[in-house]
Parts: sequence; structure tokens; C-alpha cells
Amino acid sequence: MTLLSLEFILVAVLVICDVKAQFTPFYEEVTSGGKESYSSVEIENQTEEDDQGEPSRRNFEDLLQKIHGNIPNTEEISNSANQILYMTQRLLEEGFSFEKVTSDSVAAGIKDALILRGICKSPTVYKCNALSPYRTIDGSCNNIQYPERGKSFVAQRRAIGPAYKTGTVGGPRVTGVTGKPLPNPRTISNVIHSNKYGVTINGTISLHTFQMGQFLDHDIIQTPLETVTGGCTCEENTRPECISIKIPEGDPFFTKRACLPVKRSAAANPDCTPGFRQQLNTLTSYIDGSNVYGSTEDELTELRDGGYMKTSSENNLPENPNDGCVIDHNGEFCHLAGEARVDAVPSLASYHTLFVMEHNRIVNALKSINPSWNVEKLFQEARKINIAQMQHIVYNGFLNAFLSLDTMITYNLLSLNTGYSFSYDPKRDATVSNEFGIAYRMGHTWIPTYQDLYSDLNIRLLGPEMGPFDLVKTFNNPHLTFLNRKKGCPALLKWLTSEASPATDRFVEDSVRNRLFEDSPGDGFDLVSLNINRGRDHGLPPYGDHRVSCGYSAVTSNWNSLVDHNTEEVELLRQVYDDPRDIDLFTGLLTERAITGSSLGPTLNCILGREFQNLKEGDSYWYERPEPQGFSIAQLNEIRKTSLSAVLCANLDLTRIQSDAFRLPGISNYLVRCTNVPSIDLRKWKSGTQRLKPGYGRETQQRNLQTGQMDMDAQSSQSDILQELIKLASGGEK
Ligand code: HEM
Repeated sequence: MTLLSLEFILVAVLVICDVKAQFTPFYEEVTSGGKESYSSVEIENQTEEDDQGEPSRRNFEDLLQKIHGNIPNTEEISNSANQILYMTQRLLEEGFSFEKVTSDSVAAGIKDALILRGICKSPTVYKCNALSPYRTIDGSCNNIQYPERGKSFVAQRRAIGPAYKTGTVGGPRVTGVTGKPLPNPRTISNVIHSNKYGVTINGTISLHTFQMGQFLDHDIIQTPLETVTGGCTCEENTRPECISIKIPEGDPFFTKRACLPVKRSAAANPDCTPGFRQQLNTLTSYIDGSNVYGSTEDELTELRDGGYMKTSSENNLPENPNDGCVIDHNGEFCHLAGEARVDAVPSLASYHTLFVMEHNRIVNALKSINPSWNVEKLFQEARKINIAQMQHIVYNGFLNAFLSLDTMITYNLLSLNTGYSFSYDPKRDATVSNEFGIAYRMGHTWIPTYQDLYSDLNIRLLGPEMGPFDLVKTFNNPHLTFLNRKKGCPALLKWLTSEASPATDRFVEDSVRNRLFEDSPGDGFDLVSLNINRGRDHGLPPYGDHRVSCGYSAVTSNWNSLVDHNTEEVELLRQVYDDPRDIDLFTGLLTERAITGSSLGPTLNCILGREFQNLKEGDSYWYERPEPQGFSIAQLNEIRKTSLSAVLCANLDLTRIQSDAFRLPGISNYLVRCTNVPSIDLRKWKSGTQRLKPGYGRETQQRNLQTGQMDMDAQSSQSDILQELIKLASGGEK
């Protein structure tokens, strides 16, 4: 250890001691909205009077919190991350360079000291079974060398480094390259994403693209929010956990409110290393049906019933007695599913129901084919087949509904017709990227303004249950799923099959751009403002930086450098942004001109293509792999026959359907009888007697070397810590 390192460690010790000393006061200040800290948000000034006239704000915030998941241990993770951020910031203020503070040797020393002080937990030790035929529920051990990659409750990856407010390690950017304030997210939303022309329909894709899009999102990513006692309000916008959005003067819709109160995404640093603020993913990143089976063993235990997934009557999802969804009819209840956002809209609940039905259908079939299989074997095999079908459907129907063929080829997204795929690459990290979490919100442009129930293709249910139902009335309210004598889900799925999706463009319908989670007129929210704001909250660099990372030309101070934008969009961007280099990621992506063969622009094709390549090539349980992680060739060839249409036919009382349910029926997408839709033949799973021990999938044994939080008061004195770190610095005992 050099003298410089020793000096550094000594300063680090003082800072760590300072963190300890500051621990309680720091958090008291934070939660009481006291003085500014390193990450305070300089949105725009508001006064106390401004905040009046928001009777339902709390309701909205509860719903938004629910959408991000009320995850019990997020607070603990975020507390520890906030302390490391504070410490990193202090070391920088002491004059150490960022490179020095984050260098491997120094980071390791600091990590050890923080674990010792109880600020961080000891790393989990994984004992992985490389030959397990079944993936773990929490995604651990998918990558044997890096068992936490793609696991639930790890930090989101970044394709490119963060861009936080200058001089901070986690403050959102508030000024642009010229030093002027960045435009207000709501202003950008009003000028660029407001749909003045009414809903434009996409002539080819069906509403399944919208609904599979959201369902898939809930298999891959959920970013939890900071816990804010009392919530965020307009006058408290200096609280570091808040990033509320001011309503600009003269807003055409929100006339009575001062701001949209927003909590920041929870800070995350599960690795306990000094550096920039990161965000958590509470789900497994892999496409592994975590929206059906959950992302933790505890969740699965709640959902599973032997080999089957629990249901309520008419094959509906079971009840969640603890959920805060809106129930306004007797006998109805909130749903329990593998993912907490299940009741966001009823058509999403219908997707959860479909894949739970499919699991149980597979179990029934396997049971009659293999009467000797015990429940564990039945459960694990059915789960494995269900996940394989989901992966096949995503890469052979969903993605090509909006990505170009060129993108599908460039990023190796096309499945093989025969044989095994050998594209698994253990060096590829499948952990979801932070930029994907913003870019993939392009699906918000597909959100329809209503929900509906059909009895068969193109036939609306008649009688008192006749729709269409205003989308706004369906947020977080499962009522539609209980209609049609509790067969609302099949009726919603038939509606999704028959109707066209809103076009993929820069426009987002007012149902979510003004009235998201609206309780009474004017108290709703703007999803677009939230998307733009969230990008700044996460420290995502502007659009231009992502272009460069995709290999496209840079965006400069010259508006002509926006080579993938049409004149109309450039003019609108000029109205709000001072400089093209400030354009936020979400807005820059959605205003790009679509490339040939895709409804999206080049940078979106790149960001999504890259992500889905990671989710395929970084998944050791990818369905096209050989056994033990994959299938026999005969079984794989059966999975290759499946499609969304096949799964819908197998579980609904449908007579006919178009071959590709992601697209509307038409000349190249004929309606066919369900009996003629190719589907999986489960007899290829016939085998000899096979019994698995209960809990076979839980081969990951995790052990905490040293358990988490220590009692702060009982910590050793400053000189003890100093001694320990000096030993550490001079290569002594660890
Ligand atoms: C009615 C349908 C939908 C509603 C009401 C909805 C609502 C929301 C809300 C409230 C958020 C959190 C915003 C924030 O606080 O930052 C969100 C996040 C997100 N949405 Fe949607 N959304 C819908 C459909 C979709 C679709 C169709 C897609 C993609 C195809 C999508 C992709 C995403 C993604 C990727 C996130 C970020 C998730 C995370 O990091 O936690 N959403 N959505």
C-alpha cells in the first residue's frame, strides 16, 4: 500500500466516523424535510400556498408507490446506499479524485470497513448447482461465475456512465449544457407528446402488442421508490427523496395544482462500493415468468399449490387480501400474482391469468402422461415449459411486431428453426440496464383509451356489461375481470386479439398523459412527465450520448445534427430545449424517425436490440439450449411450434384466431380454426418414474457470513477503526 493510499484510508476513516456520527441526524434531516443534502433537487421554487387544492394527492401517490412495489426491505437497502453516497461525496469534497475513491483497492478497503461498521451487509455466499435443470426463483446462479447477475434485488446495470448534477454523485441534473435550467418535464410533455389529433390507429398490430409489452416489462424490471414519511409535497421540493414536477403556468389541463408530487427511485448499492447513485431492480431480469411465479421464494410459496398455481373460481387469480387496489363491488377482490402491479389495468390481469391457466393446463397434461411424477417434478417441469413458451413467443412474435428484421439479425434475436442454440455467453451480463427501463417505456404510446370485453372475435359483450370502458375508470380496479360471470379475463383477451393498437409515435393519450390514476377531475397524473423526470432522477445521460454508444453520429450544439429527426419534430424540440445536447432520452427516442421495417427509430432499435440480446445470450436457461438447462431436441421442436395464438386457443373457448395474434387478421395473417393452430405436444415429455425432492429448485444455498446491521451505539471507537484500517492498509489481517 503506497503512502498515498494510506493517507486516503485515513481520510476515509474520518469520513466513515463522520457518517456514523451523522447517521441519525442526517436521516432525521432527510425525513423531516430539513436542510439540503448532497442530492437535493433544485426543481423550481414553489410556495406553500401553491400546494393547496390537491385533495386526492395522497391517493395518487399511494397508487404510484404501488406501481413501483411496496417492497418491505427497500428502505434498508436505500438507507445503506444513501450513506455510501454521502461518504463518497464527502471524500470528493476532501479533494480526492473520483477515480481514486472508486479504485479497486480503495473501494475494497472502504467496503470492508462499512461491513464492519454494520452500514453494509456481508456479501452473500452462493453455492450454485451448475447442472440444475431448473432456474432458481430469484434468478441467482443463472451465471455460475457471477451468481448475482440478473438476480432480483440487485442494482440495474448501466450501458453508459451516469450524468448527475455536476459535482454530485446522485443529484438530478437541473441545468443544461449552456448553464440554463433544463425545460420542465410537463412543458416537454405538453409541447411534444400531447395528442392533439385524437388516437391514431396502427393498421397492423393488435392490442396484444401493448398488453404483452407491459406484461413483459413486469417480468424484467421494477424500480422501487424511496420511502418518504408523509409523502412528497410541492413545498418540500428540497427534500432529497423528492423530485416533484412543477405545473407550468397556463397548463392546458392542470389548472388547480402546483405540482405533481414524485418520490425519487430508491438509491441502491447492494455491492457496497463508493460511486454514483444506482437504482434497484426488485425482479429477476431474465425472461423467466417472474410475473407469474414471483422473484423470491417467499412470493412463490404464496402463489403455489403443490404442482399447480393457486387460482380462485373460474380459473381466476387468487385473492390478495393485503393489496390496496380499488374494490367498488361486493364479492370482488384484488389479485395475487407473481408481480405486484397485476391490477394496474384489467387487461394486464388477464395476461397474468392466461399464463397461470397455461401452467395449470400443462400440469394436468403432464400428470396424465406421467402418473408417477410427484408434485415437485410436475411443478418444475410445467414452469420450465411455460417459461420456454414465453421466451419463444417474445422472440418470435412480439419483438418483430416493432423491431426491424435488420435489428433482429444484428442482435441475434431470431430463434433457430432446428437444432440447439450455442449463443450462450457467460461473459454477457443479463442484468437489466437502467436505460432500458426508460427506453422501453416507448410502449406508453400503445396504451389505448379504453378497455373492452368481447364474447368472440370482434363481438362485443351485450347487455349491462357492454363497453367500451373508459381506461381511467379501470386503473388499479379489477372490476372488469369479474364481469361476464367471472370470465372477464377471457373476454378481455378476446378484445385484445381483435382490436388495433394505437400507433407507435411520439403521442401518448390523455388517459395517461393527464388522467393517470385520476380520482376526481384534475387530480390525475402525467405519465410522460414522469418518464422524462425519471430519466433525470436516474442520472441517465441525454439522448445524444445514447446515440453515440449505439455507434450513430453525435448530437452537437447544431440542430442539424439531429439527423434521424424530421423537421417537424426538430422544430418542436427547439421550442422547449435550449440546446440539442440536452434532449432527454425518452423524448429523443420517441421523436426519432422510424427506420425501414420498424415502427421505431434507430436508437430505440439499438437500445432494445442490445437488451434483448443480453436477455437471450446471458441466460444460461435460454430455452434453445441443450439439457440439462434446456430440453431434448424432440421437446425443443415442440416448443418451437407454440405461439400466442396457440396459448390463447388452448385456454379460451375460442373457435378461430389469426395465426399471429400480435397482428390484426388480414391477407397475410388469416383467421384459422384453433384446431389448426400448431401447438405443443406434451407427450414428448413422457418419461420413466421421476420424483424430485420438494424444493428441488432451491438449490442455491445462501449464507450470510456475518449478518447485517450492527447496533450503531455499540460500535467501536474511532481509534479502533483507525487501527483496523491501518492494518488493512499495510496488508495485515483482513
Ligand atoms: C395502461 C397501461 C400502463 C400504465 C397505466 C403504465 C403506468 C406506468 C407507471 C405509473 C410507471 C411508473 C412511472 C414512474 O414513476 O417513473 C410505469 C413504468 C414503466 N412502464 Fe408503464 N404503464 C403501462 C403500460 C406499459 C407498456 C405497454 C409498457 C411497455 C411496452 C410499459 C413499460 C414501462 C416501463 C419499462 C416502466 C419502468 C418500470 C420500472 O423501472 O419500474 N408500460 N408505467
